[in-house]
Amino acid sequence: MNPDFLEIIRYATKAPSGHNTQPWRFSLAENTISIRPNFEVALPVVDGDNRELYISLGCATENQLIAAAHFGYEAHIVQCDTAEIKIELTKSNQVVKDNLFHQIERRQTNRSVYSSKKIGNEQLEKLQSISPSENLKIYFAEIGSPLADTLSQYIAKGNEIQMSDKAFREELLSWMRFNGRQVKATCNGLSYKVFGNPALPDVIAKLIVRQFLKPNTQNKGDRKKIAFSSHLVLFTTKHNIVKEWIDLGRLLQRFCLTVTELGIASAYCNQPCEVVSLANELQKTLPINGEYPTLLLRIGYADPTPYSPRKKIEEVIE
Ligand SMILES: Cc1cc2nc3c(=O)[nH]c(=O)nc-3n(C[C@H](O)[C@H](O)[C@H](O)COP(=O)(O)O)c2cc1C
Repeated sequence: MNPDFLEIIRYATKAPSGHNTQPWRFSLAENTISIRPNFEVALPVVDGDNRELYISLGCATENQLIAAAHFGYEAHIVQCDTAEIKIELTKSNQVVKDNLFHQIERRQTNRSVYSSKKIGNEQLEKLQSISPSENLKIYFAEIGSPLADTLSQYIAKGNEIQMSDKAFREELLSWMRFNGRQVKATCNGLSYKVFGNPALPDVIAKLIVRQFLKPNTQNKGDRKKIAFSSHLVLFTTKHNIVKEWIDLGRLLQRFCLTVTELGIASAYCNQPCEVVSLANELQKTLPINGEYPTLLLRIGYADPTPYSPRKKIEEVIE
């Protein structure tokens, strides 16, 4: 096995994924690495059509391409469909390295309350210049603007629907890791440390957390988190199809690595994109040319938080 390929895969696995399920499997051949979806860790309630799963695979793909260049390989996607994303790698002296490589291990989802400092024009322009394509668009909504107010209302509606849904709560709880033993045993899921919580035995933690998984409690927390952010950032797709989800994942990853480079924090407020009825309403009412609202982030300034665990690469290589 080419040791460079193993390192490239290790960087791929630093990508974000819904509930940190890490829904990828890698396989290697002489000059290719393939990423395949692992539906065993799909999230049927929150992500019924596997959209977030494929976005996560797109994020891992982008990390992989950036890491391949760093290790001196020309890398091209030679297959991209629901079954597989295959990358061909050729060693070359001509490879142009991508500075974003250095942000792969620094990037994180930061769910803390931000500082309320606004992102300056120069930095915003840099983010706005991350080129979307014809089928993918990025919209920035400054907190306090009418667009941000509308999106915030829909985040609240999303919390109301999701937190009133027992199946949603149980799925979320099943991915929560309440102490070091659970984190070590699974190396996936949402670690207590990432949320700034103390370690607790499973049974006690579940009782406590259930009290927080309620619409009003979530909305109170989210209102504050949004108010102290600088912008909401909405990613749209034209047709809401798998190919676009993978491409969106690649774009999202470049976006998140760029904000990391600029010292800006980011976290997901994806509720209105996850609840189909709300996404359909937003598609009709927002000034987004009928595109599909696919992913929503908040960005701003904050101190780093602890990092999420990852599985060892041996566990995700077929
Ligand atoms: C497509 C997608 C959707 C996500 N949705 C949410 C979300 O709704 N709420 C949230 O807190 N985190 C969300 N996340 C963030 C993941 O939980 C996070 O990536 C994972 O826990 C790993 O942590 P890291 O990003 O810090 O490496 C999402 C990530 C992806 C890729």
